[in-house]
Formats: sequence, structure tokens, C-alpha cells
Amino acid sequence: MALASDKQANEENELMLALPKERGLYGGPYLHLFQDFWCPSFYFQGVINFQKHFLAKDNDVFVASFPKSGTTWLKALTFVIVNHQRFSSFENHPLLSSNPHELVSAPEFILSHDLDDQILSLSNMSEPRLFSTHIPFSSLPKTITESNCKIIYICRNPFDTFVSAWEFSTKIKSVFSHALTFEEAFEKYCNGISGFGPWWSHMLGYWNASITRPEKVLFLKYEDLKEDTLFHVKRMLEFLGSSVTREEEGTTVIENMINLCSFEKMKNLKVNQSGYMHNVAEKKNFFRKGKYRSTLQQLVGKVELVGKIEFVGKVENRTVVD
Ligand code: A3P
Repeated sequence: MALASDKQANEENELMLALPKERGLYGGPYLHLFQDFWCPSFYFQGVINFQKHFLAKDNDVFVASFPKSGTTWLKALTFVIVNHQRFSSFENHPLLSSNPHELVSAPEFILSHDLDDQILSLSNMSEPRLFSTHIPFSSLPKTITESNCKIIYICRNPFDTFVSAWEFSTKIKSVFSHALTFEEAFEKYCNGISGFGPWWSHMLGYWNASITRPEKVLFLKYEDLKEDTLFHVKRMLEFLGSSVTREEEGTTVIENMINLCSFEKMKNLKVNQSGYMHNVAEKKNFFRKGKYRSTLQQLVGKVELVGKIEFVGKVENRTVVD
């Protein structure tokens, strides 16, 4: 069994080495063009194992995002909602003692090592299981797209994800680094070359799925969630079929959920101020400014019409500064 899986890992490594590769943000050491997206070397084996071995359950919930779009926030909110019955106390909640990335894992990351053990622990997880992923919709395992499990996607203005990713990349360990200047990274980003990019096809894949299958994919925007958190959290509750709104109408439960996951609250928690995630990034670096500079407005629709040219055109008239 071990020999068979070693052989398979070698074959997959050879496949990765044969693919076009580039340096780019949120990858490392390289990005490999696989199934029309730029897959970081760091995740390559995990992506393949996820596609081959993951078995979705109908009550699974996935948080999906392009890197630096607000994944940490969405993980926290979804965790509170999905586990509301299990952890109803806000004074003693797991989010007060664990970082959201420790509570919600990405199969493409966990399946990158100790495959048999990890598959077993995934099947033994308490239900409903909650996961995250950065993989584009078109490359998700069929078991996810064909089952009744639900996906909540968060989209963010690409100006802000670029700045956020750049800042993050300057603080992480070298295993994940890209060895690019700011200008080089920006140029590549505009051409779609960054981890799990192009960003426009990432957004569009989930956007289109949310239109054709609204019961399966809920499409949120970071900017909207910031503007009116209550309204969009209620949308999440409804989408997930949570009983919170009906049972606790008139109470402060939803406000408590929102406060627990707010940027200020999470950034200042002791658990998020020290220590590393997966020995690569310091937990504190997942909480930087938590603001946005411009609204996404009709960006998704525009991208559909004119693709990256629109974005590059806008970028030329704008100084990309933090
Ligand atoms: P900035 O770098 O612009 O501050 P991700 O979680 O996908 O890695 O995205 C990180 C971005 O989300 C960072 O943006 C970070 O500050 C912001 N963020 C993290 N937690 C947040 C929260 N609870 N509320 C709002 N934004 C949050």
C-alpha cells in the first residue's frame, strides 16, 4: 500500500514538473498551470488527492474563496452558524481559543500528507462537516459539485486582494515565497498569475454556479459584508437552513455571532496574536487592516464582458498603495 502510494506521488510530482510554471503571489516556490489555474507547488499533491479521494456528504458546508478575500472572516462566521446548537455560549466559544483556520481546514492542504490517516479522520469528523477551499469551481471534486453539499463563496475587490496578498507574502516563511519585486508581482497578478488564479475566472466560476444553482452556491462580497453584516449574515443563515432566525427572533444571538467574528474582536484575541499556522504564517498576519478602498460594484458583470482588460485599464489610472 505504501509502495503504491509512493509510486503515485512520484507520478504526480512528475506531472507537476512537466506543467508550465511561473513565480507568482500566494504560491511557492512555483505556480503550475494545472486545469487552467495556477496551482501552488505547496498544494499540488493535496489538490490531486482532494480530487481523487475526497467523498462529500450532502450536509457538508464549504467556504470557498480566492486567497486574501476574507476567508478567515467567512470561516469564523460559518463556523459559528453551523455549530450554533453545539456551541451556543459566546463566553466559552471555540473561536475564543482557536484561530478560524484551526477550526476549518482545506482538504487540499490536509490531504497533502499522511493520506490514509487524513481520509479516515475526515470521514470520522462530526457532522455537519465544515471545510474551506481555494480551488476554482471547475476543478472541485465531482463529489462536491454533484452532491447536495453547500458552498459559500466570498469575493473581494482584486485591488485589495492584491495588496493584502503582497503584504502577507512579505511576512511568511520562505517555503511559500515567490522571490518577486512588487512591480513584478503586480504585473503577474494583472495577467492572472497568482496562486489559484486567474482571479477573474475564479470569481466567475462561482458566480455562474450561484446563478444556475442558487440553492448550492451563495456568492458574497467582502465589501457588502462589511457594509451590512447583519443583512448578509441573515442570508447565510437562510441559505444554510439554520433555525437561528426563527427560534431566536428578537434576541441578540445574530448580533453576538457578528461581534464574535468582527475584525476588532478577532484581531485582539490572544489566540490570534501569537503562534504559527502550519508552521508557515504567523496567525497575527491573517488580521491586517480589515478595510476596503473601493466597492466591487458591478465588477463581476464587467469582468464577464471585458475580462482582465477592464481591470488592467483601471489599474493604470490608479496608484496601488496600501
Ligand atoms: P487586509 O490585508 O486588507 O487587511 P484571508 O482571510 O482570505 O486571508 O483575507 C485576509 C484579509 O481579510 C485581510 O485583509 C484581513 O485583515 C481581513 N480579515 C481577517 N479577518 C477579518 C474579519 N474578522 N473581518 C474583516 N476582515 C478580516
